Amino acid sequence: MQQSSLSAWLNKPSSVKQPPNIPLSQVVKGPLLPKPQPQAIPEATPSIVRQPLLRHPLPPNVTVSSLTPTFLPAFKRLLALLLPIPYHDKFFDAIFTDPTVANITLVALWHKSASAAASYSQNTSPQGYNGTPAIPTLVSAVRCKILETTFPEPPNAKSKSSSNRAENGTTTAKPTLYISTLATLPAYQSHALASTLLQTLIARAVKEYDIGGVSAHVWEANTEAREWYRKRGFRECGLEEGYYRRLRPTGAVRIVREVGVRDLLGEGFGQEVEGVMVEQ
Ligand SMILES: CC(C)(COP(=O)(O)OP(=O)(O)OC[C@H]1O[C@@H](n2cnc3c(N)ncnc32)[C@H](O)[C@@H]1OP(=O)(O)O)[C@@H](O)C(=O)NCCC(=O)NCCS
Repeated sequence: MQQSSLSAWLNKPSSVKQPPNIPLSQVVKGPLLPKPQPQAIPEATPSIVRQPLLRHPLPPNVTVSSLTPTFLPAFKRLLALLLPIPYHDKFFDAIFTDPTVANITLVALWHKSASAAASYSQNTSPQGYNGTPAIPTLVSAVRCKILETTFPEPPNAKSKSSSNRAENGTTTAKPTLYISTLATLPAYQSHALASTLLQTLIARAVKEYDIGGVSAHVWEANTEAREWYRKRGFRECGLEEGYYRRLRPTGAVRIVREVGVRDLLGEGFGQEVEGVMVEQ
């Protein structure tokens, strides 16, 4: 798409994708998370999340929600199984004690059927799940944090798409959404789970934290994850040797992606070319 036609595209109703046919029961109205309770770790609201528009919609038996203590053991097992480094207790505690981290941590729950997913959503009240004990399986999760740093200047100086670009071409200070962990159980991969979780969080972080971009570190030997991110518009901007002291090789590739038009519209991933987001 040409830059000159971007405004027209944004205003053209016929080109705006309709959301997938999500049962109303899977959508929670009102705040996405309860106000954090002082002291105690809440047996929190799973707060089912509205799904973004993506090329592959989620299977109808999947719900997306915040992480509650009930699913913490499954979350820990997921990371231990799929990621090559251990995580400290503080890393997990922050999900329940830091309201920002809680707000930008999401899980995908796999139910036995679409009707079980709908039933789970309907029975999820602010006090938590109170229906029949058909506990779903936590199959995918993303945990992020907000870095209060200036988003890095991209190598392509012609790009004008970032909302944090100042008149003189420099980048103003905007926070970055940092992806701490992202993983899907192998048997449940290629169902758009990770894409949906990450895109949901990016859209949320754009709205609520005014982020300028998204970044992460990926182990240099993890070529599959590097390719996965590349297909979603991330670019590699440096190798940090010694980042993973216990791994061989030790390096982490730093990946970054600017916030784009599609993020602002709540649409799926695209790749930014000369300031215009294009379909993947
Ligand atoms: C990287 C990882 C998180 C991706 O998880 P995932 O849930 O399988 O991701 P998605 O389903 O969104 O995308 C995977 C592929 O399935 C495809 N896919 C998704 N839904 C699909 C569908 N309904 N039909 C066909 N293809 C589909 C996607 O297009 C994507 O392919 P592409 O990358 O060629 O575009 C997962 O492989 C993983 O856990 N890896 C190990 C941990 C790791 O390395 N994490 C990243 C470092 S922090």
